[in-house]
Amino acid sequence: MISRKFEVIGNLKMHAVSSILKQYQTMSDRSFGLMVPYPYLYQACEMFSGTQVVIGAQHVSGYASGAYTGRVSCEMLVDVGVSRVLIGHGETKSLGEVCAKQLEQAKQAGLSVVLCVGEDLMSYQQGRRFEVLRAQLSVIADLASVVIAYEPLWSIGTGVVPSVEEIESVVCWIREHLESRAGNCGKVRVLYGGSINQNNCFEIYQHTSLDGFLVGGVSLKPEVMMEVIEQCQSY
Ligand code: PGA
Repeated sequence: MISRKFEVIGNLKMHAVSSILKQYQTMSDRSFGLMVPYPYLYQACEMFSGTQVVIGAQHVSGYASGAYTGRVSCEMLVDVGVSRVLIGHGETKSLGEVCAKQLEQAKQAGLSVVLCVGEDLMSYQQGRRFEVLRAQLSVIADLASVVIAYEPLWSIGTGVVPSVEEIESVVCWIREHLESRAGNCGKVRVLYGGSINQNNCFEIYQHTSLDGFLVGGVSLKPEVMMEVIEQCQSY
């Protein structure tokens, strides 16, 4: 069987995660990713240095520097050892031009990107999913070092997950759309995020061509997250 490089990334959101990171440290012989709140990034980069665990930030400014109180730039992330950043997550409300600027900054700083796209419930119910996705994907100027995470907003934290057929059709559409737009960019990696847990992950893994999962709530329980990782990496 051809081995499949499947990545499971935890999005720890705005939770106090010192003790959670320590639990993950005991599992760092596995390969996975963690998107960590800003104050813990330096600590996490130190803790997981030399392991296969990739530490990322959950948000970033679209500016290089300047009078932007409370913001964090890509260069600052690189300074503390971060190699990846999440852009466009539904909870950050970054859209359009803002995401385009964040992508440009990440590229200049050499950060790899997980770009979240996904329709809201109303667009989904009105059958405008692909129209929304097309607009969200249009901000990408350069696909190098960009992984797409399809996260329908109506599935984040709700326990409602699209069917495997639906997920697969969106994943294929995203790949075809981007590959036809960008020419010979190679295979576009696409993750899925939204209410993934230890009970639904294997079916979705098995019946789709996904390259990974972005996991929110469940990532706060490292032992459950490990069940997800194991189910998706041992086949
Ligand atoms: P969830 O979150 O797994 O809790 O639905 C996913 C995400 O926000 O990335």
